[in-house]
Amino acid sequence: MNNLHGIELHPATAAFLAKPRTMLIGGEWVDALAGQTLPVVDPADGETFCRVPAGEAADIDRAVQAASRAFESGDWPKMRPVDRERLLLKLADLLEANAQEFAELEAIDNGKPVTMARYVDVGLSVDFIRYMAGWATKIEGSTMELSVPLVRDREFFGFTRREPVGVVGAIIPWNFPLLMAIWKLAPALAAGCTMILKPAEDTPLTALRLGELVQEAGYPAGVLNVVTGLGHTAGAALAAHPGIHKIAFTGSTEIGKLVGKAAMENMTRCSLELGGKSPVIVLDDVDPAVAAAGAAQAIFFNQGQVCTAGSRLYVHRSRFDEVVEQLSAIAAGMKMGPGIDPSTQIGPLVSKVQQNRVMDYVNSGYAEGARAAAGGAAGDGPGCFVRPTVLVDVHDNMRVVREEIFGPVVVAQPFDDLDEIARRANDTPFGLAASIWSNDLSRVHRLIPKIKAGTVWVNCHNIIENVMPFGGFKQSGIGREAGRSALELYTEPKSVIMML
Ligand code: NAI
Ligand code: MG
Repeated sequence: MNNLHGIELHPATAAFLAKPRTMLIGGEWVDALAGQTLPVVDPADGETFCRVPAGEAADIDRAVQAASRAFESGDWPKMRPVDRERLLLKLADLLEANAQEFAELEAIDNGKPVTMARYVDVGLSVDFIRYMAGWATKIEGSTMELSVPLVRDREFFGFTRREPVGVVGAIIPWNFPLLMAIWKLAPALAAGCTMILKPAEDTPLTALRLGELVQEAGYPAGVLNVVTGLGHTAGAALAAHPGIHKIAFTGSTEIGKLVGKAAMENMTRCSLELGGKSPVIVLDDVDPAVAAAGAAQAIFFNQGQVCTAGSRLYVHRSRFDEVVEQLSAIAAGMKMGPGIDPSTQIGPLVSKVQQNRVMDYVNSGYAEGARAAAGGAAGDGPGCFVRPTVLVDVHDNMRVVREEIFGPVVVAQPFDDLDEIARRANDTPFGLAASIWSNDLSRVHRLIPKIKAGTVWVNCHNIIENVMPFGGFKQSGIGREAGRSALELYTEPKSVIMML
């Protein structure tokens, strides 16, 4: 395949797609033991364009054994921190050098616009690996003065170490396949862990290509293993495997709870980055054009398939009609098309399943009395498109207001005062993110502590930063990825007490 939807593919992308795809276990490229495969579908037209191995429990078991061997013996545990840093920097360089290929693979596999994939998915991944590389040499403990009772005639000395947690299982969603893998891989490898990576069945390609780069960078065999497969087989086997020491999951709250329960059975350390229903709160001092552009970016970025998507828009009543009108005009004007086409502004959703799920929500909104000010329908043809949608005439108890839709659908409602908006913003089981739009410093600062969310943006939305802890309050998850806190997820503290 050299050409797709009328767009010429980069030769490296075409070459990768032409190869038979196997998965990476213990430094070898292998088929699934049972010999089964899964289709990889182009969501822009619903066509299967390649297949990947359907790994199952037995494949996960092989991968865990390989990762355990790599963690316990060979070159990896002996490697100096500065050499772990060097390898990560090498990996970042390789990813940067192959950025266009990765962006195209992500655009074809997920459907997202290729330019976004290049600068967001691939660009942020490169930056994040470089940021995390520096932490490899900066993992520290503390020394303590002890006050031991009874043994008064001896001196004591205490210190703490941070050691790699061990073998890590990473289960990745399909909305940012490469970036979410990197968010787990980079801190895990910086800390000296080894990993089994299970990409989402809908988007396995960049994880497999990443496996090639990890080998090219010179990592010892078994440090990264990539097992493609379904969630309820490969994913469930990984979460429940007694040989892993930490599981890192990003995906739905429903599956996150299953993964958390399976992990608890073995006391496997567990971090969960789950769903959201994040509010966008526009106060009355904001220019409606600024608010509308911000709200559009908050919900339509990545076709709304973003855990932090600004899916509930609350505008002060005095500005509501103007903001909704301008937001609807932006929505109606977005160019819909295949992700691989550089002129596309809104691509297809990841799959038919996701398209149907989103349209079921939109239809439930209509049934409960909502009206579409823009969009509100699927795209024509076999692709998994949903038109950018703005729902109005909604109330707080509707399913479209309460549940995560995970598509380009925003519900817009007016509000009157600050206490009311804080209460309504928090009236959700989720707590991942929120944005406040205002230049009134005093009101913004009064609102920030009231919002129960892991990230609060002011006059922006969906800004993801390497150095900032990222994660959820309430049912949006447990733990913080990115920033310094990511390292805590991949290290285990050890207290040492010495009698001198
Ligand atoms: P999902 O939560 O089922 O999939 C995420 C990952 O979990 C995939 O790798 C999948 O293979 C794996 N998985 C599925 N079942 C598993 C199990 N029993 N044990 C272990 N791993 C398992 O998400 P899905 O079904 O693709 O999407 C459903 C909804 O989840 C979306 O509509 C959206 O609301 C939400 N979602 C949220 C994401 C986020 O970034 N917070 C990402 C993806 C989905
Ligand atoms: Mg699922």
